[in-house]
Amino acid sequence: MIIAIDGPAASGKGTLARRLAAHYGLPHLDTGLLYRAVGARCLKEGRLGDEGASVAAALSLDVSALDPDALRTAELGEAASVVAARPGVRAALLDLQRRFAAQAGGAVLDGRDIGTVICPDAPAKLFVTARPEVRAERRFRELAGRGETIAYDAVLADILKRDERDSGRSSAPLLKADDAVLLDTSDLGIEAAFAAALAIVEARR
Ligand code: C5P
Repeated sequence: MIIAIDGPAASGKGTLARRLAAHYGLPHLDTGLLYRAVGARCLKEGRLGDEGASVAAALSLDVSALDPDALRTAELGEAASVVAARPGVRAALLDLQRRFAAQAGGAVLDGRDIGTVICPDAPAKLFVTARPEVRAERRFRELAGRGETIAYDAVLADILKRDERDSGRSSAPLLKADDAVLLDTSDLGIEAAFAAALAIVEARR
């Protein structure tokens, strides 16, 4: 069983993906980490503006060495969305995502283009969203909890900018697949959102 979960930043898709993976005993890939790792490498080399460097970083990415805690910063979210707009970077990361999805028994993947590009045939697809102010509040708390001092207004501005870049790009824009079920988590707590997600997946199994 492949579960494909897409949605904008801080929509709750990551939490739901983790919970669903644990529930079904499936491996989970947070595909945002791949783009964050590519962005991190380019930033470190001072070559974020260099398309060739970002494609090379994507081609040589070591998935087993990803450090989620180090990668989930506001700065790397921004860098990720810059490199993610480049078709060569997306092409370089395609195979490893498809191979992850093809594991015997299935997998849960979350990102921006899982239901549309990576796993168009996944039986269970969710498009998770929430109002921008709600997403900014969640991200603000998450970053503050990890000691990142960044103002709420800056977090909201960052989220709106990333939404625009991720939705407006020509290569695999953030888009709900026609057969994905929309789940708005704005007014749902984690347990209620998980129950709703589980019901959607169960209906598609
Ligand atoms: O989900 P997360 O915030 O970690 O993603 C960081 C950035 O990576 C997104 O803003 C998006 O530009 C990019 N991304 C993508 N396709 C995916 C996952 C993430 O373009 N499947």
